[in-house]
Amino acid sequence: MCGIVGYIGKREAYPILIKGLKRLEYRGYDSAGCALINGEGTLSVYKTKGKVSDLEAFCSDKDCSGCVGIAHTRWATHGEPSSVNAHPHYSSSRKLALIHNGIIENYADLRKKLERKGFSFQSDTDTEVLVQLIEYVRLSHTPALPLLSAVQLALRQVVGAYAIAVLDKDTPGEIVAARKSSPLVVGIGDGELFLGSDASPIIEYTDKVVYLNDGEIALLRPDEKLKVVNLSNVEVTPEVCTLDMELGDLEKGNFPHFMLKEIFDQPACLRACMAGRLSVDRKNIILSAVVDHKERLLAARRFIIVACGTSWHAALIGKHLIESFCRISVDVEYASEFRYSDPVISSDDVMIAISQSGETADTLAAVELGKQKGAFIYGICNVVSSSIARATHTGSYIHVGSEIGVASTKAFTGQVMVLTMLALALAHEKKTISEEEFGKLCTELGRIPAKIEEILQHNDQIGLLARIFTYARNFIYLGRGYNYPVALEGALKLKEISYIHAEGYPAAEMKHGPIALIDSEMPVVVIATKNELYEKVLSNIQEVKARGGRIIALVTEGDTTISKLVDYCIPLPETMECLTPLIASVPLQLLAYHIAICKGKNVDQPRNLAKSVTVE
Ligand code: M6R
Repeated sequence: MCGIVGYIGKREAYPILIKGLKRLEYRGYDSAGCALINGEGTLSVYKTKGKVSDLEAFCSDKDCSGCVGIAHTRWATHGEPSSVNAHPHYSSSRKLALIHNGIIENYADLRKKLERKGFSFQSDTDTEVLVQLIEYVRLSHTPALPLLSAVQLALRQVVGAYAIAVLDKDTPGEIVAARKSSPLVVGIGDGELFLGSDASPIIEYTDKVVYLNDGEIALLRPDEKLKVVNLSNVEVTPEVCTLDMELGDLEKGNFPHFMLKEIFDQPACLRACMAGRLSVDRKNIILSAVVDHKERLLAARRFIIVACGTSWHAALIGKHLIESFCRISVDVEYASEFRYSDPVISSDDVMIAISQSGETADTLAAVELGKQKGAFIYGICNVVSSSIARATHTGSYIHVGSEIGVASTKAFTGQVMVLTMLALALAHEKKTISEEEFGKLCTELGRIPAKIEEILQHNDQIGLLARIFTYARNFIYLGRGYNYPVALEGALKLKEISYIHAEGYPAAEMKHGPIALIDSEMPVVVIATKNELYEKVLSNIQEVKARGGRIIALVTEGDTTISKLVDYCIPLPETMECLTPLIASVPLQLLAYHIAICKGKNVDQPRNLAKSVTVE
């Protein structure tokens, strides 16, 4: 939700800011803007509705010189997407310019208070209130406060979430940045400093970063050591970390879209996810979190998994895996509902928080709630050192590399892979799985990447199939058991990038209502692999067929029974039932991708969405 970039040093800031914004565009693309201080000390703000490329076009005839700058790409919360509501926002004197990611919850009260003091506002945003508040605080002291102190005092009045960066025309040699509940990273170069909502705008300049913590304010001056203070003005020693990020993940390579690249990356990503954890030869799975916290995890009365969106679908698969293999009861909760549901949590519960970005506000809040109530928190995140990863007691990264496409693909299979390894490692410790079955599963897990490679060879066929269904207005996805969450995920992928209405159901639920929707216009995608529930799914297929539905079935290679019944088949390599989600989700990702492409949609940046949902 909104991306922030900043630079101060000896180079021209503008190209660094634009490149950084492009990297962060996945976080929002309603409008973009930048503020620069040039050699003469002029502070200029340029902003426009639309994408970063629109900002570039807008700036093409402007003076964008200067070695100090901040820039923003917006996902609108308060105020429609427009150039007036775009960031940066000036203060009334036009001496300050500010960018913000987050939501100022008490902005209406603050705005009224400032209006009474004579401030007027140009935009409908909560952000403009913040920059005016900083100016007000600053000027209400004699002499006027330094920017850092004004930001500090102003933020004490603010309720809500923010990552901000502020420029001051009167002190052109510094940027002040602060965070609470929205991520902010400072990159430390040689005589230059960088800012980013994540490390992607920074990685090619330096691998030394500081992740700001909640309530911290940083003073960026290029020739001085980074100064970090908290809201009470106590100086904090910043912890400098070395980045673990591949530049290649941030580029599309030879693929037309990040989403397609990320779908094709899955075999390599899953190999990376298993590396050092799964030993096929020794038939063992070692997760350091399980080794370090074995007693606590095995003593759990129950597991509660909290997540949103795709991560929630992975959670449903995790529930099935942990309950089946470990015989521990698991509740799966939407983090957004959980945090307000006055949940019953006790100190013998283990909470698993799943989040690709590690920044989802609702999931982070659920983690904080779980911690307050004494639960032990296990994080499954992709982004290293993200807020959720840092807030948990332990965890396992999925290690699939940066995911840029807004529609999650490789993160989903990475999450399912970690959950599978977690369930198996715990079951092995608890001895609720036989050595023989455990060994078989270890061997089969090791084969999953190669099986996904086989599926990826059907990409062109799936592309042709997509053409047939481009004009469908609705879709139904059906699955049972482990494949019910796969059906939900397939439907989510389609709706978020093609804007076709799609619903996922457990196949047997059809006759309790949704079957009324079936007619010859309704494509139905059925995950119908050979497993314990195969015969039942076969009956569900017959029921759809009898009502004229058009069926696309995912079947186990060599299945001739279903292929005779349905309209189109996508073959999947045979695997063990509990591992089917790892492979069955891949053709559904491709189907959604190709349908969206046929419809001419922007698959990497679908409308109204952002990759990282750092607001409620
Ligand atoms: O970063 P997270 O995994 O916490 O994100 C959760 C959801 O916002 C995310 O999965 C969303 O549903 C994706 N757009 C799905 O493709």
